[in-house]
Amino acid sequence: MNSELEIPKELVGMESRLEKLKFLMCTGSNDVRTIGIWGMGGLGKTTLARVVYDLMSHEFDGSSFLADVRERCDKEGSVISLQKQLLSDLLMLADNSIRNVYDGVNMIGSRLRHKKVLLLIDDVADVEQLRGLFGKRDWFGLGSMIIITTRDEHLLKLHRVEEVYKLEALNFDEAFRLFCLKAFDTYKPLEEYLELAKCFVKYASGLPLAVDVLVSFLFGRPVDQWRSTQERLKRDPENKILGILQISFDGLKEAEKNIFLDVACFYKWENRDYVSKILDSCGFDPIIGISVLIEKSLLTVRENDRLWMHDLLQEMGQQIVRRQSPDEPGRRSRLWEEADVSHVLSQNTVSE
Ligand SMILES: Nc1ncnc2c1ncn2[C@@H]1O[C@H](COP(=O)(O)OP(=O)(O)OP(=O)(O)O)[C@@H](O)[C@H]1O
Ligand SMILES: [Mg+2]
Repeated sequence: MNSELEIPKELVGMESRLEKLKFLMCTGSNDVRTIGIWGMGGLGKTTLARVVYDLMSHEFDGSSFLADVRERCDKEGSVISLQKQLLSDLLMLADNSIRNVYDGVNMIGSRLRHKKVLLLIDDVADVEQLRGLFGKRDWFGLGSMIIITTRDEHLLKLHRVEEVYKLEALNFDEAFRLFCLKAFDTYKPLEEYLELAKCFVKYASGLPLAVDVLVSFLFGRPVDQWRSTQERLKRDPENKILGILQISFDGLKEAEKNIFLDVACFYKWENRDYVSKILDSCGFDPIIGISVLIEKSLLTVRENDRLWMHDLLQEMGQQIVRRQSPDEPGRRSRLWEEADVSHVLSQNTVSE
């Protein structure tokens, strides 16, 4: 491990998780090791993978972190651009001769056999994606390490990944520390907030994403608003996580809600300026609106100034729109799925 690098302070419970992962990395065969990090959305798989990658990449001849595999494949329709990134990261090969997935498979499968690499394949949803990036263990040299993060354990089994690390949720103490650090900038809350803070931590069920979103909503609010938020969560104990996410949405102004729903339905991964121009023409005041959503952890700006939101948040946004009219898409405020659009056009069911 790179002793000069440290685990970022804002990450809690990382050391013990790293230890467990390191243990699994040492077991198994010692030619090419394969490890899956598995857990639900928002649990911290990518965060853990980044830490491991930063700490370990110097131990290999080359390393590559392939991020957002699921989303990139959905958007681009194949793994070709990821194959190109892999080759460029590991061989400095800016090769554009890959015309299809098979070209990529052949090239990766033949050129890296003698190289000890660290390959991180983040957020894989389909075994085909995996096969295009890492078909067989002998594609890579002795001592290579392939780490895959996914929400789907079955996929790891299907691809014969040797070790699976089931990432645990944060325990109460860890989640409490994370909550306090984010809400009060210290590990100890003010006395009047203490019981409420404990209650919210329980609701977040150890999911770091839920802690993030909840704290962004509560931050700086007076204690009586914390109390009324808690009352709301008590009324809907069934669906804690979605309840937490929805509280943040409900606390938005009308224009901000519209921007959130538009991004959830249409503009994830689109350029911020481009989206701002469109939303501006709808009268939503996007410059302020987008900044508010970012502050509330409902929206993030990723590379190349593109707007991104977590899947669970996107799912919540789309659910909100579907619930406007569960059975008849023509009465919803937004249509983004082909089947719904074609239903509305063919049946002429659109209404005001
Ligand atoms: N140990 C931790 N301490 C503090 N914050 C964390 C920790 N782990 C994750 N987070 C935060 O929680 C959020 C979700 O984490 P992350 O994106 O790593 O989840 P994930 O498991 O990769 O989710 P997905 O399946 O959607 O890809 C991020 O904002 C991240 O910063
Ligand atoms: Mg992830």
